[in-house]
This record gives sequence, C-alpha cells and structure tokens, in this order.
Amino acid sequence: MTFPIREDAEIQVTEPFRPYERLVKIKVLKKTVEVPEKNSLLRCFQFLSPETIPYGRFCWNQDCQYCRVMAKLPDDDKPREMLSCKFMVMPGMEITEISPELKLCLRPALQK
Ligand code: FES
Repeated sequence: MTFPIREDAEIQVTEPFRPYERLVKIKVLKKTVEVPEKNSLLRCFQFLSPETIPYGRFCWNQDCQYCRVMAKLPDDDKPREMLSCKFMVMPGMEITEISPELKLCLRPALQK
C-alpha cells in the first residue's frame, strides 16, 4: 500500500545540534578541533564523528556515565571530571582524558 504525498506537506529535517553561528576551537587529547558553540560536548563529539557517536552506548541524559571526560577550562589549574552530555562547550577548553566508550567512537575522527 502506498500513501500519496500531499503537495503542501512540509518536510521537517531534524537537526541534532542546537543553533550556532560559529565554530570554536577546543583540544581533544592534544588535537585541536573546531566544534559548534552553544552545544554540549557530546554533541560536539557527534559533530566530529557523526557516523559513530549516535551508535555509542550513550544515554544523553546523565545516567550512564559513559560520556565522562577530564577537561581543563581556560581558567583552571588542573583538569576536572565532567559529563560531556551535560557540559556546554567552552572555547579554549582542553579535554585531557575521555571514557573508553568515547575513545572507541572518536578514534577515527582523532586519527585524521
Ligand atoms: S551520555 Fe549517559 S551520562 Fe552522559
């Protein structure tokens, strides 16, 4: 059975990223990358690796802990632990350690 497509139907594209106007530079395991501002770190990782992050074992709501990273903000003396699904990206931040799940998902993007 087929359904006719209405000519006035709107096609909705679902964009996973929050609206952004520019990319910001951050470091992920010493590699400088550009990611969309105003997005969570996990979304930024998805921006870097759209083929793997959506298939990782991430809950996206602070339950699973698979998205843990250690990161140093521009004003920090030392890295602090954070959940990448919760923390909004900050220009100049340095991610020094990532969880095994993130390592697996980001390996192709970080090897480029
Ligand atoms: S994705 Fe599950 S806690 Fe962040």
